[in-house]
Amino acid sequence: VSQLTPPKDYRSQLLEDVFYGFTAYRKYLPSKYFYDGRGSELFEQITELPEYYLTNAETEILAEHADSLMARIQPDELVELGSGSSRKTIMLIEAMYRSGPGRRYVPIDISEDALRAAAKELCGAYTWLEVEGLVGDFVADLDKVRRRGRRLIVFLGSTIGNYVPTLRYSLLRSVASALDAGDSFLLGVDLVKDEATMVAAYDDAAGVSSEFNLNILRVVNRELDGDLPLDAFEHVTRFDPISSCMAQSLRAKRPVVANLKALDLAVSFVEGEEIHTEVSCKFTRSQVEQDFADAGLAVDDWLTDSEDRFALVVGSGG
Ligand code: AVJ
Repeated sequence: VSQLTPPKDYRSQLLEDVFYGFTAYRKYLPSKYFYDGRGSELFEQITELPEYYLTNAETEILAEHADSLMARIQPDELVELGSGSSRKTIMLIEAMYRSGPGRRYVPIDISEDALRAAAKELCGAYTWLEVEGLVGDFVADLDKVRRRGRRLIVFLGSTIGNYVPTLRYSLLRSVASALDAGDSFLLGVDLVKDEATMVAAYDDAAGVSSEFNLNILRVVNRELDGDLPLDAFEHVTRFDPISSCMAQSLRAKRPVVANLKALDLAVSFVEGEEIHTEVSCKFTRSQVEQDFADAGLAVDDWLTDSEDRFALVVGSGG
């Protein structure tokens, strides 16, 4: 696993992000900081919850279409953004082996722990596979990935839903510029559906989503030598019909004053004040077509699961 963004950059970025997030009029923390070792594990648990339909729906589409997709695209390398555990990607990797010449897998992820574990497992299971893991922020670093032949960029799990429209545009632009003629892009998006189903996916009965959300405070405390009291905050999730996004936050149950020694900053919260931690935007086909067109990408195919919960978008550089 080679390093794309040196850890020093990660830390100074985190300090800067937390400072801006906690001194803003409406406090926020960037959702990429959920994913330390514990956060990545909690997310894996979320994917196994009955309420979190996204993973099953996407897996169903991959199971049905992976072979025909790979036979059609014939990539030499598979570049994955936000690879996490790489579990669903295994279906694409195996299909690539069966249906084409590709033997190279380039996962990029913010979590070095998750990347190491996934790379080790894949190299053990597939001796023919060349794995070049990259630790980094894939929006900033995608253009630094060296290419070897025809490329397929995959971005699964509706992780694109974590990007507010401006950053989504900038991400899709950087994907477009990383694609040459003949290359492809595979994007997983969660679709707009009835509100109760979407809300339950982010507020499960077992409380794992709540643990996952609160874990970001653990990360901040550890990295910034802070004393934010986790028991003073509660998990909040709601659907915003204007933006078509689920929005997650942490709400102070009582007044809180906490110290972040690394920033020499005392942070105060009034009762009921929220730290915004994540958006998970939901899409329609026309929204995706518009977003692709804006970024100079073409939608070549649109594949959904049997219940129309989730879509895999096949695209190319316009
Ligand atoms: C990994 C970004 C796709 O937004 O659905 C799950 C993360 N957050 N539960 C999502 C998440 C709360 C997840 N993504």
